[in-house]
Amino acid sequence: MSIYIDPDAVSRLRQYEMPGKLGFGRVIAPVMFRAVCQDGCWSRGELVPYTALSLDPAAKVLHYGQSCFEGLKAYRTPDDEVALFRPEKNAARMAYSAKRLCMSPVPESLFLDGVRTVALYCANLVPANSGESLYLRPFLMGTQADLTVSASASYMFYVIASPSEAYHAGNMRLWVERDDTRAAVGGTGDAKVGGNYAASLLSTGRLRERGYDQSLWLNPANRSSVDELSGMNFFAVMGEVLYTPALNGSILEGVTRASLIELARDRGYQVVEGEIHINELLKQVASGVCSEAFACGTAAIVSSISVIGDAGGSYRLSKAPGPVAQSLRQALLDIQEGRAEDRYGWMQLL
Ligand code: COI
Repeated sequence: MSIYIDPDAVSRLRQYEMPGKLGFGRVIAPVMFRAVCQDGCWSRGELVPYTALSLDPAAKVLHYGQSCFEGLKAYRTPDDEVALFRPEKNAARMAYSAKRLCMSPVPESLFLDGVRTVALYCANLVPANSGESLYLRPFLMGTQADLTVSASASYMFYVIASPSEAYHAGNMRLWVERDDTRAAVGGTGDAKVGGNYAASLLSTGRLRERGYDQSLWLNPANRSSVDELSGMNFFAVMGEVLYTPALNGSILEGVTRASLIELARDRGYQVVEGEIHINELLKQVASGVCSEAFACGTAAIVSSISVIGDAGGSYRLSKAPGPVAQSLRQALLDIQEGRAEDRYGWMQLL
């Protein structure tokens, strides 16, 4: 199906001036992609001016949380072209999230049309500095207007975009969250749904008062092994071995996580996906056996962890990124930003 390009969207882009200071997710591109679905039938996609949405107050998304989202990035290459990183992975994960919430999935071709159209028309908004990119945020929601607890028959799919810096600059201070859990095993922890992030906010508020940046969530079933951060996956380095929590149903299968595992193995590191018991981890940090820990995600890239705080005390790692985190971050960015050969076929030029 062809995509409709609203001439007003094109003229909004022509008039747009990008602010100098970006931050993460604060500057929003003046256009968006949208498509609607009724009883399983999707409309054609449209690129339209960015504007507020009109939603019926009884829309299911507002009451029963039928919504999921994705995050992926468009990069500027040295030849001044624009490339997307593994967009099919995000399309597949959004289909998985939609299925978990009993929503009409966005067909892969429509998802890809959406992210490619926004990235292409917003090519002038893709920053050129290393570590910066055009962050794309596709999202899907159930819009049927009635208060019965049942799956919506109608959906809206949007892609908005934000020229951004990395979500975290590193030197992150984590707090071990031992009271609350984020997403139940068998629930939605491995789906990218807004409710998982909402469930993290109370913890984030508490730890910020104590001077920490991010919660380190424990597995909701055993409450003793590490799951992930609120919006990033977790890695610990001990000698030549990288440990990361296995995909156990309550953590998100990060695209950056999967890519780093591949890069690390190709660089000769052993990567163990398994259970990381928090008390054991803290012991290894205290004794220096755990030399580095870092978090990763599309928005955050690779972000080093300098402190893990717990009720019993504060466990310190280096403030500066460790050599493993630094070299993996650089290797990933070199591929994403087009400086290194893409042996993996991860990048898609537009
Ligand atoms: C991403 O990394 O794309 C995410 O969705 C995390 C978000 C909390 C910024």
